[in-house]
Amino acid sequence: MRLGIIGGTGATELFPPGNPVVAPPGPWGNPSAPIQRHDINGHEVLFLARHGAPGMPAVPPHKVNYRANLWLLRELGVQHVLGINAVGGIAPAAAPGRLVIPDQLIDYTWGREHTFTGDGRFPLEHVEFTAPFSAPLRNLLLAAAGRCGLEVLPVGTYGATQGPRLESAAEIDRLERDGCHVVGMTAMPEAGLARELDLSYAICCTVVNRAAGRAAPGVAIHGEIAASIAAATASVGRLTMELLAAD
Ligand code: HPA
Repeated sequence: MRLGIIGGTGATELFPPGNPVVAPPGPWGNPSAPIQRHDINGHEVLFLARHGAPGMPAVPPHKVNYRANLWLLRELGVQHVLGINAVGGIAPAAAPGRLVIPDQLIDYTWGREHTFTGDGRFPLEHVEFTAPFSAPLRNLLLAAAGRCGLEVLPVGTYGATQGPRLESAAEIDRLERDGCHVVGMTAMPEAGLARELDLSYAICCTVVNRAAGRAAPGVAIHGEIAASIAAATASVGRLTMELLAAD
């Protein structure tokens, strides 16, 4: 398969630059970084660093050009896109170091370019979003996790917040009341735009901290992120390689 991967915090280490794709400028501005082509077990992987190329100033979640990123992947012939997203865990089971394959999301972001429609360049369609993630791609991820013995949370609701600041404890209380299991800043508008382009899109979340107000007393969020990001990234690396091991 030809798989697009949009990798967030930590994930760029899994797909180091080396073979950039030369792409003409697209209609929606510049993507976050040059796309890197990898050949893994005969599968072509086009990797895009969501927050910018390593060594460059990081593009914060509210400034990511989600439209340019997804458009370019589609221009390059990608049908399936896997997002890798670092998140905070709200549900007790979403512990730092674990992976979550959400099946739902709630969008709390605002002011982002969240659609290709509206200025005549793209046909208006009220795309269906009942199931925001591709069931077939989620199933492939879950099967790969099973084969390599990775304990993942197989369902969950992702709350997409605006960032770049982390949330207050009361905001996380509200997300929990709404039914969110994890919180992150990047799955929207990415998932909605992918649907407008008719891409098959799913995400694998790496839990890197307990969300605000959920950590044990005295545990600072950034300390927790520093302690868990390597293990979470290694797990998503194993999962991705297993996904690409199959025919
Ligand atoms: N909140 C929002 N986004 C995040 C978090 C968080 O706690 N951790 C990693 N990304």
